[in-house]
Amino acid sequence: MKNSGVARGLFGDISVDKHRLTVGGCVASELAHEYGTPLYVFDVDRAVKTAKAYVDVLKREYPHSTVCYASKAFCCTGIYSLLAPLGLGADVVSGGELYTALKGGMSPSKIYFHGNNKTESEIKYALDAGVECFVVDSALEVELLEKHAVKPQNVLVRVNPGVEAHTHRFIQTTTVDSKFGFSIADGTAESFIAALGVRKNVKFVGLACHIGSQIFEKQSFEVAIDKMTDFILRLEKRGIAVERLDLGGGFGIHYIDQDLPLTPEGYMTNSARYLRAAVEKRGIKPPHLIVEPGRSIVGEAGVTLYTVGAIKTIKDVKTYAAVDGGMFDNPRVALYDADYTAVIADKADIDGDFEYAIAGKCCESGDVLIRSVKLPELRTGDVIAVLSTGAYHYSMASNYNRNVIPPVVAVKNGRSAYMVKPQTYEDITRNDVIPKFSED
Ligand SMILES: Cc1ncc(COP(=O)(O)O)c(C=O)c1O
Repeated sequence: MKNSGVARGLFGDISVDKHRLTVGGCVASELAHEYGTPLYVFDVDRAVKTAKAYVDVLKREYPHSTVCYASKAFCCTGIYSLLAPLGLGADVVSGGELYTALKGGMSPSKIYFHGNNKTESEIKYALDAGVECFVVDSALEVELLEKHAVKPQNVLVRVNPGVEAHTHRFIQTTTVDSKFGFSIADGTAESFIAALGVRKNVKFVGLACHIGSQIFEKQSFEVAIDKMTDFILRLEKRGIAVERLDLGGGFGIHYIDQDLPLTPEGYMTNSARYLRAAVEKRGIKPPHLIVEPGRSIVGEAGVTLYTVGAIKTIKDVKTYAAVDGGMFDNPRVALYDADYTAVIADKADIDGDFEYAIAGKCCESGDVLIRSVKLPELRTGDVIAVLSTGAYHYSMASNYNRNVIPPVVAVKNGRSAYMVKPQTYEDITRNDVIPKFSED
């Protein structure tokens, strides 16, 4: 049993009014009633406050820096309209994310284009759009950039510093066996970067790494900074200047009681000061610092509301409470064994002694949203809220079993409005075609 299911005091900004969970000043059960369930609820002020905290702390601790929001965490036009005015840039990893960022008002001059296998058409699109920088992750990408760029294009090279951050095995991206980045340890990164010198339209400006996700230990970032600055020194000794250093994202958030994340202030103050000391120690020029928080900006700003349907007790085993959502709106449990907690929306601060597995409605035994949570006794029709669902939920949602992807409702000062409208059955069949062949 990992989860108490009591919201009070668990997540700082989530409040409870007469037992009712409120998000952004709106009563969760009233939102469920108005918009239906399943429903993603997004607390605008919460995300803005966290994003601003990243910008402000770096302004103070390391002004030569850019905070790029990692689009993959939650990508829709509305999020860029909130973050761009705060001075954030964006990290995108596909043509679709780039399109959405531009449509949401993000300037291409603040966009970093990541991805280990960008397609030729995505590369052409991003060049035409004028993105600030590509984060190159293959020799093929360099060839394609040379083929299509009409002027020197800034590139960072994604490297693998071989740091294993403390996180779940499946979401580590920088272990030695990784599809991301060029390894520093085996010399591949150095020879790849040295070879860029002869390219006409590929301008090497720096290095990028990303050591994992949902990281709580600031020491993981310190080890990465040591490895990256050692590498910068090695490159500079070869006469290769490294103007920018992208340390990626990965800052942890609160999903369950046991999670103990630092604040943006805590993560950034430590990394910025550590980086300053590291460059001073090695006698290298302080690079422009880029950080790419995703989850930590939007994760805790999200709550998903569901309605309880069938409740099934398996004698001496467990009780499943099935809800009207599932792995189509949150695949993270099936993918990563992710942990969550939940509350009953109108009994959010009431302790309960009933233990439930919260199941989804998809045709997969693995479609469970919470393996174990203690709640007051559930009844069919109760609205429950799963907490910390702002990151990697809507962006990872699918139409599995032809379920419609839930809408996202933004809440602020007691008001609510769609950020993503509901899908309809018509939407999910819009691109279906019954194939006709000429001989039919
Ligand atoms: C290159 C890169 N930057 C940033 C992020 C964002 O990480 P997080 O959402 O954990 O902050 C990721 C996540 O996979 C990533 O791969």
